[in-house]
Amino acid sequence: MSTSAASPDPASSHPSASPGADPARGSQRDAASGPGRSAAPSPGASRVSSDDAAAASDRGRSGSAAVHVRDLHKSYGDLEVLRGIDLDVAKGEVVCLIGPSGSGKSTLLRCLNLLESPQSGTISVGGFTVTDPDLDVDAMRRRVGMVFQQFNLFPHLSVLENCTVSQVKVLKRSKDEAKRIALANLERVGLEAKAGQRPTQLSGGQQQRVAIARALSMDPDLMLFDEPTSALDPETVGDVLAIMRQLADDGMTMLVVTHEMSFARDVADRVVFMDGGVVVEQGPAREVIGSPQHERTRTFLSRVLNPTTVDTPE
Ligand SMILES: Nc1ncnc2c1ncn2[C@@H]1O[C@H](COP(=O)(O)OP(=O)(O)O)[C@@H](O)[C@H]1O
Ligand SMILES: [Mg+2]
Repeated sequence: MSTSAASPDPASSHPSASPGADPARGSQRDAASGPGRSAAPSPGASRVSSDDAAAASDRGRSGSAAVHVRDLHKSYGDLEVLRGIDLDVAKGEVVCLIGPSGSGKSTLLRCLNLLESPQSGTISVGGFTVTDPDLDVDAMRRRVGMVFQQFNLFPHLSVLENCTVSQVKVLKRSKDEAKRIALANLERVGLEAKAGQRPTQLSGGQQQRVAIARALSMDPDLMLFDEPTSALDPETVGDVLAIMRQLADDGMTMLVVTHEMSFARDVADRVVFMDGGVVVEQGPAREVIGSPQHERTRTFLSRVLNPTTVDTPE
């Protein structure tokens, strides 16, 4: 199967171009609450109404699964990094993607919003057929928030400006409205008091929370997280995970690459284990982490859960 994906535009790959949630949607806890949430909760009518109406005219958009990937292949030169990935994320679902370094997790996430172009396979995200050559890439990316390991905040802008700039430029919101939404999201991540500061004045964990507030300010349907706590000092990891847990409780659809197994076990509806560019195993979080079926999953989990254990390399 061949796929002609539109070329990714590195300029719009900056997370400032990634969307965020309307704080007015507020808590949707009742609709989808924490562990044991159904695979496809109905996270409240407010999630679908205006978004879908606004997006209905977006080119290349159809369907309702948050993420639907089939037989995805991606190579860099001779190196085949993704070797036939199938992945689904339902609306309102939280999926944690785990696996050893180099297994293709970041590449998969980057293919989802066309920061990388796959060689073959099909991807649909938020109803957009990402692998359709006629895709409106910008419209698709507006629906997908991405949070990276390295925050990617603008150092020369204040925390507040970081959260408003794309709202004004991309969503054409007025400055006042953008500011109101940004402040509501900064409050949501506990950082409204830092609005006037520069990112460099904040701890890593605080910067990551700003990055989450910035993404939320764009009102996304889906949030992608690529190891959001891996670059943080251990004492700030918990604050970021708490925000992510709250987002999950609020009904946000989330695909999270993480090594935080307790987060995955407690918050994810499903865990997907990747190794060597394929999905080796997936299932309910507690089952995959608690009683993995495959030897590769067991080996990986024992390394992650017992990082100080010395063992011989494969
Ligand atoms: N832009 C790139 N060019 C060449 N090789 C790459 C590129 N990005 C990733 N790779 C390679 O693809 C493989 C998978 O990388 P990645 O998706 O980052 O894995 P993970 O996120 O699971 O650690 C690695 O071998 C990596 O070196
Ligand atoms: Mg990675």
